[in-house]
Amino acid sequence: MAPAMDGIRIRGGKPLTGRVRISGSKNAALPILCATLLSDGQSLIRNVPDLKDIETTAELLETMGRPCDAAPPMVAVHPGAVTPEAPYELVKQMRASVLVLGPLVARYGKARVSLPGGCQIGSRPVDQHLKGLEALGAKLRTEHGYVIAEAPRLRGTEIVFDVPTVTGTENLMMAAALAKGRTTLVNSAREPEVVELARVLNKMGAKVRGAGTPVIEIEGQDELAPFDHAIVADRIEAGTYMVAAAAAGGDVLVEGVPVDDLEALVAKLRASGVGLEADGNGVRVVRGKTLRSVDVTTSPHPGFPTDMQAQFMVLMCLAEGTSRISETVFENRFMHVPELRRMGAEIEVQGHTAFVRHVTRLEGATVMATDLRASASLVIAGLVADGETIVRRVYHLDRGYEHIEDKLGAIGADVTRVHGLAG
Ligand code: EPU
Repeated sequence: MAPAMDGIRIRGGKPLTGRVRISGSKNAALPILCATLLSDGQSLIRNVPDLKDIETTAELLETMGRPCDAAPPMVAVHPGAVTPEAPYELVKQMRASVLVLGPLVARYGKARVSLPGGCQIGSRPVDQHLKGLEALGAKLRTEHGYVIAEAPRLRGTEIVFDVPTVTGTENLMMAAALAKGRTTLVNSAREPEVVELARVLNKMGAKVRGAGTPVIEIEGQDELAPFDHAIVADRIEAGTYMVAAAAAGGDVLVEGVPVDDLEALVAKLRASGVGLEADGNGVRVVRGKTLRSVDVTTSPHPGFPTDMQAQFMVLMCLAEGTSRISETVFENRFMHVPELRRMGAEIEVQGHTAFVRHVTRLEGATVMATDLRASASLVIAGLVADGETIVRRVYHLDRGYEHIEDKLGAIGADVTRVHGLAG
């Protein structure tokens, strides 16, 4: 029998009003938790979001021998004897587990890490991570689904990424921080989470320059110190609430928005007629009378984030005209489209582009998504739709949105968690 699962029930049609505070960034916290492996002492990480992926990473560190007090918003990673091995059972739950590979081989001279497989949004290879580690002098082999990396001491070198990869850049920055000599990473990812990791590595005593640009230089050190760091706000959570407020209508102050990291989204929201006003460290979102369709193409930062594509598509369903949304980062990231269609959306997909036609209303339905951001888009659709929507498989949302039903409830949405839905 299929396992029982939680879902989110939304009674749509209520405008959102009030304030919502943005939590710490998931995708910044994950590599930073892995960076604790680069030093032996106790590191403290603050403003950590209370999410399943954080729990999984803490479990991974514990399994490897580093006890954790994971009590978000604080996580303490204690000293311990490390077995440099990441088992399949944990990596399969979270692809970002591959981020332990660089730190382990740099600090312990050896790592055995289960290779992540494909996932719902694409094949997502890790060849760039592996190619970079080899260039740093690691000997790699794969055995029974695991990559085994060995190197008595990594040596700095120049590495040119074929594609800018976020976790690939992070993995190699961490490895290079303990390598002998200087490493230059060319065609690096420029995402704010890479910049945040560089801040932490610099706190640990590494010399990292250029993070946030395509060329990052890392002066390797013989050892690194533990750190104490508060994680930046989550730009994707912030963007999701901004789009939710714009789609549902009303007047919401989204507090703690890292607005400089959201320029591409802010520009598209403004162009579509959404009112955005800076207010203290927040952004007030007021939906204009009519929404206009705009075209969007996802690309690496500072372009329009792939992690906002699904949510923005719901807004475009409500905009006058036809919007063309192209996904260039992942090959299979339109899994929300058939579910949105079941709610009355008129969307046609041709290759990597979705044509989104204006509809006057969406209808509540039972829907299911297969990844985190697609699930968020269905929640937003549910907020807008007439009647009741149930978004099944809420565990996807729990990986990336802290206490989503409480946060939406506090700004006037009728959202409840329902337990025990069949498979
Ligand atoms: N790629 C390769 N080879 C590699 C690595 C990546 O070809 O070795 C390709 C990928 O297949 C993809 C592109 O490069 O087409 C970019 O992928 P990237 O490696 O940048 O993605 P990632 O590091 O695996 C992170 C976020 C994702 C986010 C992407 C893109 C974390 C933990 N994950 O993934 O976040 O979508 O960057 O911005 O930081 C999410 O939070 O929902 C999420 C999926």
